Amino acid sequence: MNHSMVSEFVFLGLTNSWEIQLLLFMFSSIFYMASMLGNSLIVLTVMMNPHLHSPMYFLLANLSITDLGVSSVISPKMIYDIFRKHKVISFGGCIAQIFFIHIIGGVEMVLLIAMAFDRYVAICKPLHYFTIMSRKMCLLLLVAAWIIGFIHSVVQLGFVVKLPICGPNIIDSFYCDFPRFIKLACTDTFRLESMVTANSGFISLGSFFILIVSYIFILITVRKHSSGSSSKALSTLSTHVMVVILFFGPCIFVYIWPHSTSHLDKFLVVFDAVLTPFLNSVIYTLRNKEMKVAMKKVCSQFIIYGRIS
Ligand SMILES: *[C@@H]1O[C@H](CO)[C@@H](O)[C@H](O)[C@H]1NC(C)=O
Repeated sequence: MNHSMVSEFVFLGLTNSWEIQLLLFMFSSIFYMASMLGNSLIVLTVMMNPHLHSPMYFLLANLSITDLGVSSVISPKMIYDIFRKHKVISFGGCIAQIFFIHIIGGVEMVLLIAMAFDRYVAICKPLHYFTIMSRKMCLLLLVAAWIIGFIHSVVQLGFVVKLPICGPNIIDSFYCDFPRFIKLACTDTFRLESMVTANSGFISLGSFFILIVSYIFILITVRKHSSGSSSKALSTLSTHVMVVILFFGPCIFVYIWPHSTSHLDKFLVVFDAVLTPFLNSVIYTLRNKEMKVAMKKVCSQFIIYGRIS
């Protein structure tokens, strides 16, 4: 911290137009609350229903926990700042934001790959499902997700945290992340920018390809052994593919084209920070009958409990 001469950063926000600010405020508040509610409900439902104690639902509940984090790293500060003239964040706050964005982003990516692997085993090796996706395996995947997320975040931050920042301390966005943070340094940052593009960009792109290829592979297997269960498998797969595209699309754009002059990346981040976690919870529950039934039970239990007490 001694190296930098700025102690805080000023955000320019997303736009100056009052109408768009109002729209953004309503949009983000509604979807932020809906996403917190939906994902908490998923976690509760999976924890409270013994017959949902299977690898797929454990991974889903863990994805929901991660989604609670995804929406909370950027959105509350963004919503709080929307109508403020002077939007500031401390140096430490900025670094913390970058740190958590990349841990949670990393965990989410690994979990999505783990969920694809789970579907692969369930569909292509159904007889060995419970031996392969054992309790140990689930725990291993979960621990791996957090370790990979942590390493991914710390490695990049290690390069950036000591950068001499001499100002201006203005960030043309509403949150802190590498592409715009690095631009504030007063040294040549070309190599750092390449490192971030390689680390964050190619990891997103790589995970995206792994996922798409594994889903295509599963699809081919399903079509070969087409049976009664294949249409159900297909509908589960299509929801997973939707989530993957929604999550990775903005990530890939932000990190692979960090130098684009358009402001499209800022709007795309709103999408990832607010909308995707909400859509995840909706997509996974609305298209899953077991989950819907279990959720209704949990909700009615709460209502009954509320009436008694
Ligand atoms: C997350 O996954 C682990 C490993 O399978 C599991 O033990 C845990 O219960 C899951 N968390 C939730 C909230 O379901």
